[in-house]
Amino acid sequence: MHIMARIAVTDGMAPGAVSRLEKAGHEVVQGFIEKSDLLNGALDGFDAIIVRSATKLSSEIIAASSSLKVIGRAGVGVDNIDLKAAGSAGIMVVNAPNASTQSVVELTIGHLLSSLRHVAKADRGLREGKWEKKQMKGTELSGKCLGLIGFGRIAQGVAKVAKTLGMEIHTYDPYLPPKVAKSQGAYLHKKVDSLFQTCTHISIHCNLTEETHHLVNEKRMKMMPGKQGGIACGNHIVNCARGGIIDEDALLSSLESGIITSAALDVFEVEPATGNNKLIQHENFHGTPHIGAATMEAQRRVGLDIADAVILGLSGKKPKTLVNGSFL
Ligand code: MLT
Repeated sequence: MHIMARIAVTDGMAPGAVSRLEKAGHEVVQGFIEKSDLLNGALDGFDAIIVRSATKLSSEIIAASSSLKVIGRAGVGVDNIDLKAAGSAGIMVVNAPNASTQSVVELTIGHLLSSLRHVAKADRGLREGKWEKKQMKGTELSGKCLGLIGFGRIAQGVAKVAKTLGMEIHTYDPYLPPKVAKSQGAYLHKKVDSLFQTCTHISIHCNLTEETHHLVNEKRMKMMPGKQGGIACGNHIVNCARGGIIDEDALLSSLESGIITSAALDVFEVEPATGNNKLIQHENFHGTPHIGAATMEAQRRVGLDIADAVILGLSGKKPKTLVNGSFL
C-alpha cells in the first residue's frame, strides 16, 4: 500500500487510534523522542506528530522539523506547543478538547469530596496505625457556595454534579456570555475578587495565560469567608486545570496559617512534582499526578478524536479543532 504520510506518536496513544491512522493509509512510528534528538532533526521526514504533555514542541524544535505539516495534541492544553512558531512555519495545530471533559469533572468532584471528608488524610493515618475518628470530622458540600474560575465545558459539568449535591454555583469568566451562566443556574461575578469573597470552595477551570498566572494568590485567598450557612466549613481549593494559576508558595503559607483549610491539586507549577515540593508534605494537602484525563474512556476518545483531526489536516482540510486558525 502506498503510504500517505509518516506520523510520529511520542507520548503514547490508544491502540484503536493508532489503527485508525494506519487504516487511513498512514505510517505510525511510536516512541518517546528526547529533546536533544528533536533538536537534531529527529522529525525529519515526518508529516505529523501527535503528542500529549510530555513532549515539548518549542520554536527551536519546530524550526528543526521542516517536513511537519500537522501537530496533534492528544488532549486539551496546548501550552507545550509554541503555537506562534508552528503558525509561522505553516504547521497546523489541532487538539482534542472534548474527549476528557467527563473524566476531569469526575476527578474534580472526587478531590472536593476527598478534601471535605479527609479521605486521603484519614487513609494516611490508618496506614500509620492511627484511628483518628474524632479528628476526621468533616463538612458537607451541600449548602456551600462553589466558585468556578472559568466556565467552559469542564466547569459546567462540575456545576451540574455540584448542584445535585446541593451546592450554590458561582463563576468568574470574563469571556462568558451572561446568558450561558444564567442557563446553567450559575451566578456570574464581574470581578474575581467578589467570587473569592463569596465562596468557601474554589475550583479552577481556566487556561494558564499571562492573565491567569497566579490569579489565586495570598490576597485573594484571605478574602474567602470560611463559613457558610452558620457552619465554619473553612476554605477549600481544588485545581485540576493547569499548574501556575495558583501561587503555590502562597497556598502553602495559607495552609500553614489556616486561611485555607484544604487544598487538592492534580496539576503543579513544576511537573513532575516530587517530594521536594513542600506543599505536597502539608497534612491538609492531597494531590494526584496530573491524571485528570487518565481514564480508559477519555484516552480512547482522545486518541480517536486526535486521529480524525490529524487525518483531516493531512488531507488539506480544516479540522474543527484547529487551534492556530491564523496559520491558514
Ligand atoms: C489536557 O490538557 O488534556 C490534560 O491536562 C491532560 C494532559 O495534559 O495529558
